[in-house]
Amino acid sequence: MAKTRLDDRSTRHDRFHQKAKREGFAARAVYKLEEIDDKIDVFSTGHRVLDLGCAPGSWLQYARKQIGETAVLVGLDRPSGIDMMKKFTGVRLLTGDVMTISMDELRGDVPAFDVVLSDMAPDTTGIRSLDQARSETLFERALEIARALLAPGGNFVGKLFQGPEFKKLTDDVRSSFTKMKTVKPASSRQISIEQYVVGLHYRSEK
Ligand SMILES: C[S@@+](CC[C@H](N)C(=O)[O-])C[C@H]1O[C@@H](n2cnc3c(N)ncnc32)[C@H](O)[C@@H]1O
Repeated sequence: MAKTRLDDRSTRHDRFHQKAKREGFAARAVYKLEEIDDKIDVFSTGHRVLDLGCAPGSWLQYARKQIGETAVLVGLDRPSGIDMMKKFTGVRLLTGDVMTISMDELRGDVPAFDVVLSDMAPDTTGIRSLDQARSETLFERALEIARALLAPGGNFVGKLFQGPEFKKLTDDVRSSFTKMKTVKPASSRQISIEQYVVGLHYRSEK
């Protein structure tokens, strides 16, 4: 069976990794969100943000800078992820699996979110079709959560490995948001088949 590396971890010391270290970010992933935000304007001051698959926390750090010190920021990850985030303050951290956590647990006392982010990635096997299918499942769940918890006009950013369901899933986003865009950030490794799908201005179905 053909195996493909979806996420090349061999370049740990690449320039984005070094830059993140220098600038005090928890991961190089921050530059993907920064590029998406520069291109598409995802955040505004005061936005309430939910970050699915938030560990080790660089997207939370970036979001905090954009929304301001007092705006609501909630992050979810599995126990192994949350365990490495002990130093995080000013963020409501939830421990759980996105596939089983309830909407009520995610919502807490927040009436609705203005931005839902998902940088979730499956534990990759190297078997392209399997990894794509798992990424699609995580993306679909993130979109389901966005539809349940976003305020009208809210924004969604979700990572998706490009595969057979890509068109269907981007069409799904298009059906719920005024605009849909896809971005492959410069800091995303060329070897990776990840894309970021952005939905802007949620058209609430509630
Ligand atoms: C690429 S990392 C996120 C990096 C993060 N955006 C940052 O900037 O630090 C992907 C995360 O998704 C999480 N994840 C994967 N599957 C998940 C699931 N079923 N439930 C919750 N989190 C999950 C992983 O534990 C991992 O921490």
